[in-house]
Amino acid sequence: MPTLRARVLTCVSADELTFLDDAVVCIDGAQIAEVAPYDGRPVDEDLRPGVLLPGFVDAHVHYPQTRIVGSASGPLLQWLERSTFPEEARFADEEHAQRIAATFVDRLAAAGTTLSMVYGSVHPAAAHQLFAALAGRGLKAIAGPVLMDRDCPPALQLPADPALAGLEALRQRWHGHDAGRLQLGVFPRFALSCSAALMERAGAFAAEHELFVSTHLAETPEECRVARERFSAADYLEVYERAGLVHARAVFAHCVHLSPSEWERLAAAGSVVAHCPDSNDFLGSGGMPVSDVRGRRIPVAIGTDVAAGRSFRVPRILSSAYDNALRQGITLSPAQLLWWGTRGGALALGHADTGQVARGMQADLCLFDAGPWAEDAAAVIASLLFDHDAGGMRCTWVRGRQVHPAPG
Ligand code: GUN
Ligand code: ZN
Repeated sequence: MPTLRARVLTCVSADELTFLDDAVVCIDGAQIAEVAPYDGRPVDEDLRPGVLLPGFVDAHVHYPQTRIVGSASGPLLQWLERSTFPEEARFADEEHAQRIAATFVDRLAAAGTTLSMVYGSVHPAAAHQLFAALAGRGLKAIAGPVLMDRDCPPALQLPADPALAGLEALRQRWHGHDAGRLQLGVFPRFALSCSAALMERAGAFAAEHELFVSTHLAETPEECRVARERFSAADYLEVYERAGLVHARAVFAHCVHLSPSEWERLAAAGSVVAHCPDSNDFLGSGGMPVSDVRGRRIPVAIGTDVAAGRSFRVPRILSSAYDNALRQGITLSPAQLLWWGTRGGALALGHADTGQVARGMQADLCLFDAGPWAEDAAAVIASLLFDHDAGGMRCTWVRGRQVHPAPG
């Protein structure tokens, strides 16, 4: 993928986009060496009218839920019991896990997603299959099994000793694989399915090995109430604070029902919010309060939250983020939305060298076909974010190598 001619859309900041109507993009090995207005030089491929974008970042997605997208059995606790736990139990079978991991990774690549934070099932062997599938494609990910040792079907409970042993084996095998493209994450599922001891040990393990942690936080009022009561805590966040899980390498999914004090403490800790607006709609969880995160400059990344979210396509979820904000009287700019789904997400997940079509960045890219009438920046953005029937993702590359469609 050496020298390309294409239209280019990328974020400079959360306030500024660049759109080049006719650009040349030079790839040198795995990196972008140059992005410039087209100057007449010979190119290897002319991708116009395709729009070259940075690969998308999905900061919260569940791989064992790939087959249950669209299971309308919410709200949350009912959906977990009826749709999610029975499906995740199937991942005790490693062959099943291997098959679904392959499909999952295909779907990420087809959506143009090149960096993701991926929860597995509770089974370490199923997480191993996920890592193997991600490695096969070269996609970047922070991935791992979920940790659960109570209040879910017995077949899905794994006590702390084997769970931590499983994490250690995965760490040794996969953490840092392929020049850091794969990392192990530590994911106590949420307070309702974990003992205090399991969460504490998870927090200590992550701290010892400098790993990202992630969990669900304050998705529904019912969940918040049960968490507070079960752990005799003043609020939900305190449960995670006690376990050492609230810090700058922590990603909290949802954050819909937090108090001002919890927001302040999240901000002070430098933690990241994985904003999952489509999932919040589908499970009727409520709306993540946009002014609370933006007012405190809390880093935000976008999560599809498949399968409570109904699409692997980050731009589709950005459209839901726009709707969520508008319901709160806030109009989000295209720059802000794309930032959350690309560069802002990459920075929030600790990947300083991805998320922009710019010199020096890794060549993790996708090519979007806008509607044929999309001639200027505004129309391309409208097509990408809001016209769900227009165009589509034509191609995805990682490190300058095509990964979707799978090269034949
Ligand atoms: N809370 C605990 N587990 C889950 C899950 O799998 N999806 C969502 N949306 N919320 C959760
Ligand atoms: Zn989730």
